[in-house]
Amino acid sequence: MKIATKLIHAGAEPDPSTGAIMTPIYQTSTYVQSAPGKHKGFEYARSQNPTRKALEEAFAIIENGKFGLAFSSGVAATDAVIKLLQPGDEVICGNDMYGGTYRLFTKIFEKFGIKFHYVDMHDAGNIKQYINSNTKLIWLETPTNPLMNIIDIAAVTAFARPQKILVCVDNTFASPYLQNPLDLGADLVMHSVTKYLGGHSDVIQGCLVMNDAELREKLYFIQKSCGAVPGPMDCFLVLRGIKTLHVRMKQHCENGKIIAHWLRNHPKLGKVYWPGFEDHPGYAMAKKQMRDFGGMLSFTLKDDSVENAMRVLSSTRIFSLAESLGGVESLINHPASMTHASIPREDRIKNGLTDSLIRLSVGIEDAEDLIADLQQAIG
Ligand SMILES: Cc1ncc(COP(=O)(O)O)c(C=O)c1O
Repeated sequence: MKIATKLIHAGAEPDPSTGAIMTPIYQTSTYVQSAPGKHKGFEYARSQNPTRKALEEAFAIIENGKFGLAFSSGVAATDAVIKLLQPGDEVICGNDMYGGTYRLFTKIFEKFGIKFHYVDMHDAGNIKQYINSNTKLIWLETPTNPLMNIIDIAAVTAFARPQKILVCVDNTFASPYLQNPLDLGADLVMHSVTKYLGGHSDVIQGCLVMNDAELREKLYFIQKSCGAVPGPMDCFLVLRGIKTLHVRMKQHCENGKIIAHWLRNHPKLGKVYWPGFEDHPGYAMAKKQMRDFGGMLSFTLKDDSVENAMRVLSSTRIFSLAESLGGVESLINHPASMTHASIPREDRIKNGLTDSLIRLSVGIEDAEDLIADLQQAIG
């Protein structure tokens, strides 16, 4: 099946009891058994829920995987992956990634004896020097949040697989419409479903997708034992969101391209980070492993003034100043004080995330209106 058909029909079976075309919201905490242990496959809603089951099947289908698992947030999905590890195990991850992932690694898991190496992954070969017998996981985010770096997924999985090191890709920025890491050899795909998959800024959710049955069992055990599961209403909203992912993503990409080029020609702006520019260091790799370049981009002001950045951030009328991304409406964000505030300033600056960096999640409004809004805000 091609992508549009897949997105619309993934996980959608008519409800067995009524024929309802949309999966009902099974708002229940438990299921009646006819005798102890005699049930219809559903015992207790932390372990199983029919709305969640339909969504988990959809996640698997749209990421070209065999199994999907839904979590109460993207961070909860990441948390489940790290809980596969033991004290003493080591993880290699990017030095440019979502601040909440960094916070989870440094503030929660380091104290349980897991060691994280934060590595420049521009050149995938760089990772090799950090591998030793304790390395159990490589965590990739590509494109990265917020600097839009591109990491070569196939190159990383090619050297990780023979050494039995798991590779998990945070595919939030690309969405399954633009990139399918399992096809490039990754073991796991993670999404902040909150973003493009939900698509309407009304749900917090995460997911994992994988091919290996044993890995699925381990992660399902963590999901039900730790209990970070999404409610059925949220699962319903995401099932609905997925059906229009392709239509939304086409428009995000189109608007993203128009705005990236407009920003680049603006005399008051410094760098514009968007992987669709031919001189972006990850352009060739993005062309290879992604289907388009997406609607996320970042930029700095020519004078690199925090004061001017604050003025721009507070002056937009269509772009809303808010955390998050991937919804139909355009958002503007200040990573240094918002999404990435948990990364120490020194580390941020060293990795290129300056105080004046502004991130845009370009929505699917009319591009002319978005440009007019940025024009009046930047001046
Ligand atoms: C790239 C990326 N990964 C993970 C997360 C965490 O997801 P959630 O906010 O759904 O917990 C985010 C949230 O902004 C993100 O941008």
